[in-house]
Amino acid sequence: MEIKGIIFDLDGVICSTDEYHYQAWKKMADHDGIYFDRKINERLRGVSRAASLEIILEKADKQYSDEEKLALMTKKNDLYKELLSAMTEADVSKEVLDTLKELRAKGLKLAIGSSSQNTKLILSRIGLLDFFDGISDGTIISQSKPNPEVFIKAAGILQLKNENCFVVEDAEAGIDAAVAGGFHSIGIGSASSYEKAEHKINSFREIINLV
Ligand code: G6P
Ligand code: MG
Repeated sequence: MEIKGIIFDLDGVICSTDEYHYQAWKKMADHDGIYFDRKINERLRGVSRAASLEIILEKADKQYSDEEKLALMTKKNDLYKELLSAMTEADVSKEVLDTLKELRAKGLKLAIGSSSQNTKLILSRIGLLDFFDGISDGTIISQSKPNPEVFIKAAGILQLKNENCFVVEDAEAGIDAAVAGGFHSIGIGSASSYEKAEHKINSFREIINLV
């Protein structure tokens, strides 16, 4: 296996915006009297906004129209963006930053592969908008993880074959997407004990040992 590039998920891998997603969904759900907890939240990792809402609405005791669903998604995204607006460069750990720079120095191409439509906003808040060689995100895909489209597009931007790339993911859906696309996978955080992850790591720095 020759690794020439690494595609990173954003939320829960590069920064802790996975927690902000939870808080925003939780506030939206509480407001509408829909039961939602951290266990259900685990199923939302890597999943698009619309698909996430469908999972949350499994616990709702009424049917929501398309207009109402749109309003709920808008409300959640507004709450989420309020949390994002407080982010700064301090929201990327030194470990993540140093590791990214070391991987770059080793000659690896680095990309983001995230289902989020807020990817560029987040990258700009944390000072990494111009760092990556490619950004594949929720604004250019039609199918979200576990479909591999976002990673296939990232590899395309890097001009690398899927089999020459690592995908780093905290979501089981993201690992499934990596496997489906023929990528090598690294599970971290919530995906660090997922059996389908080819490599499992407990800290970001361990990526260095795998390349
Ligand atoms: C990421 C997160 C998901 C989120 C999705 C869409 O994949 O892990 O929890 O639902 O992005 O994010 P967005 O910012 O477009 O609502
Ligand atoms: Mg994630």
